[in-house]
Amino acid sequence: MRVALLHNLAENAPQPNLDAPHDILYELDHPKNIEAYKKALEAGGHEVFAMEGNAYLAQRLKDLSIDICFNQCEGYRGDSREAQVPALLEMLGIPYTGSKVLALALTLDKAMTKRVLLYHGLPTPPFQEFLSADDPVDPRLAAHFPLFAKPNSEGTGMGIDDRSIVRDEVELRERVAYLREAYHEPVLVEKYVEGNDVTVGLVGNYPDLHLFPISMIDNSLYETTGLHVYGAELKIDLGDAYQYQCPARLPDELAAELRRLTIETIRVTGTVDFARVDFRLDRNDHNRPYILEINSLPGITPISDLTLMAEAEGWSHARLVYSVFEAALKRHGLQIEVPLQDYEEVRVR
Ligand SMILES: Nc1ncnc2c1ncn2[C@@H]1O[C@H](COP(=O)(O)OP(=O)(O)OP(=O)(O)O)[C@@H](O)[C@H]1O
Ligand SMILES: [Mg+2]
Repeated sequence: MRVALLHNLAENAPQPNLDAPHDILYELDHPKNIEAYKKALEAGGHEVFAMEGNAYLAQRLKDLSIDICFNQCEGYRGDSREAQVPALLEMLGIPYTGSKVLALALTLDKAMTKRVLLYHGLPTPPFQEFLSADDPVDPRLAAHFPLFAKPNSEGTGMGIDDRSIVRDEVELRERVAYLREAYHEPVLVEKYVEGNDVTVGLVGNYPDLHLFPISMIDNSLYETTGLHVYGAELKIDLGDAYQYQCPARLPDELAAELRRLTIETIRVTGTVDFARVDFRLDRNDHNRPYILEINSLPGITPISDLTLMAEAEGWSHARLVYSVFEAALKRHGLQIEVPLQDYEEVRVR
């Protein structure tokens, strides 16, 4: 097949403002990751054309007679930025990997996603969306101090560090004001769930869902760094020192519940092909799991959480990338005409 590998590279991003926070480009891609995806797709016998998901995309896809797109576009701007390229591809009638417009727009908005989760009775921390630092605090939320404040529509731990934990209304308003100023979007304030971070990743579509072993960040592992949340600093700046447990040593019952909640979350949000659902286990309530968010366009770089989880099961990075592609082919009812080479050999790390 003729495959367009669509990306948004950090180096092609519009110039950030001088006062932008240091993590403002952390969601965007890098050429070495694109190279890894390209090799994995080529190992399946496909012809791969890597290109920016930008305003020239429609014409380029037509000129190259592209059959399907491998979509990795995070988008550069706008509150539904992950949905922009898929919307264009829908308009052009070109199939693509991963979630569609509505699921991407929904899940990039954490507060809106939580409303959907709550409607379906799925556990997520109580919350309030702040449009300004002066919004009155909902008394139902104020009953839960300490609270946790984060940008409503970012990923990769952007805007998240130990200062995200706010102990009283003064700290809360200060942090909301900072986040509003830095990220120019609503701020999500939630009950702070004290406990370990757990993440569940999967590839495929029902009934061929493949869930990887659950990964857990035992926060006590980070006592020496003094960091208590899995924010940008741990995800990127200290990425090499990242400590996690996969498969997580969890009671069978809890692991089964986490898997059930993950499948329910992808179902109610309409997420397809691959995903990662992030949880916190409430240490003060028998490790009860709370859904923090769903990543409908989860990172699959050679060092992303999903990759580490697949590797814990013996998969190579190339195999993970290729199985996302295969899930999409299957979902679109497209035949794979070229037999797969052994992608285990395409180790690109
Ligand atoms: N309500 C909360 N209570 C406690 N910790 C939280 C809460 N919300 C977020 N965190 C901490 O912040 C981390 C990142 O939060 P979240 O997953 O929402 O952000 P993200 O930037 O979208 O992450 P990703 O890299 O997965 O895209 C969590 O893994 C957790 O450590
Ligand atoms: Mg997360």
